[in-house]
Amino acid sequence: MHILLIGNGGREHALAWKLARSPRLTRLSVAPGNPGTALEPRTVNVPIGIGALDELVAFATDEAVDLVVVGPEAPLVAGLADRLRAAGIACVGPGADGARLEGSKAFAKDFMHRHGIPTAAHASFTDVVAARAFIAAHGAPIVVKADGLAAGKGVVVAHDVARANAAVEDMLAGNRFGEAGHRVVIESFLAGEEASFIALVAGGLALPFATSQDHKARDECDAGPNTGGMGAYSPAPVVDDAVLAHVVADILAPSVAGLVADGVDYRGFLYIGLMIDSGGRARVIEYNVRLGDPETQPLLMRLDSDLVDLLAATAGGALEGVEAAWSPEPAIGVVIAAGDYPDGGSRGAPISGLDAARGAGCTVFHAGTARQGDTLVTNGGRVLCVTATGADLAAAKALTDAGAAAVHWDGARYRRDIGHRALARERSGS
Ligand code: AMP
Ligand code: GLY
Repeated sequence: MHILLIGNGGREHALAWKLARSPRLTRLSVAPGNPGTALEPRTVNVPIGIGALDELVAFATDEAVDLVVVGPEAPLVAGLADRLRAAGIACVGPGADGARLEGSKAFAKDFMHRHGIPTAAHASFTDVVAARAFIAAHGAPIVVKADGLAAGKGVVVAHDVARANAAVEDMLAGNRFGEAGHRVVIESFLAGEEASFIALVAGGLALPFATSQDHKARDECDAGPNTGGMGAYSPAPVVDDAVLAHVVADILAPSVAGLVADGVDYRGFLYIGLMIDSGGRARVIEYNVRLGDPETQPLLMRLDSDLVDLLAATAGGALEGVEAAWSPEPAIGVVIAAGDYPDGGSRGAPISGLDAARGAGCTVFHAGTARQGDTLVTNGGRVLCVTATGADLAAAKALTDAGAAAVHWDGARYRRDIGHRALARERSGS
């Protein structure tokens, strides 16, 4: 099989790493890929950007691609999957109709409301005065979200009214996120513990993946600015058997049924961001129409099944009888980011220590890296994800501690407390 994988982050390196281990793969093209994907067996990077829809479709057609796997959301929201399917090419990722679940938070909230899916109460606004009046009526804490895609940065959890008002001004009047912020969703604050619940969805059926949890805050103790994710682990012990049954019955099933009822032939990953309260009740924080980054890195290290089988079944709309086998060993991934992440754009610092990290028992997934001659240099905010499995989470974490400490460049930063909630549970034996 010739597979075309689209994207260039850590998630895509983990996908390439896993796809390249399938006996069904003859050739993997990654557009545009990164220096890590280029190292995987039978894998070649193709210099086409994720926004070049015409070129991606032309490449898939000309090179007789059997299956396209779309990593990031933006090309899906822009309709890449529709165009590929119209050209007769199988694709993992929803069409533009399904991708609106991530592309518009107001649409996603209406979808949940329509299909009785538990989520925070909300209202949508395009007008600053009306939004401020709503905030004044509801008080803080309250959450302000840009409606459209904002690279994970369009959400402000405001602990006082002034912060909420400032966020509204910023988005609606200040044009902070451009078109994406011309409508805001304001919703009530949900307390609890977050978990990432990811499933493959096709033909009105869902195949849940193992559970995972990421850390969105930049700094230790979950402090500092929100990021795309500084680390993740799988499984997430907060999703115990009872919570899992509740999430499948009350959130996943109505989400999939809702798509069918709305006439959406959804074929791809559905990522449901959950907030789980102290009583074990889950509510949806957001939908994404793709795998999580960095959740994918530890998740795929635990997947024992052939990923090509799962993805081909999804693209074909035939998940009936398809199962996924997971290693019982937990996995953890620690992101090493540029010192000025998430705000800055520093690049070009030489990276060392990858072999030592591998020697310490880690798999190192590239994200924001580039080659300058023979030198590997930084090329973005999240640079690497050092990932490992172990007999328990503490054992896996000991490996990523050693691996992350072995990697160097000027200004590298990472959190030393990834997995702290699960580790505390592991230590207390609950
Ligand atoms: P989102 O992009 O919608 O996932 O939001 C980013 C982050 O903001 C989430 O991962 C949560 O940590 C936080 N967040 C979003 N919505 C809420 C909410 N209603 N209550 C509490 N925290 C929230
Ligand atoms: N790690 C969060 C996300 O991928 O949206």
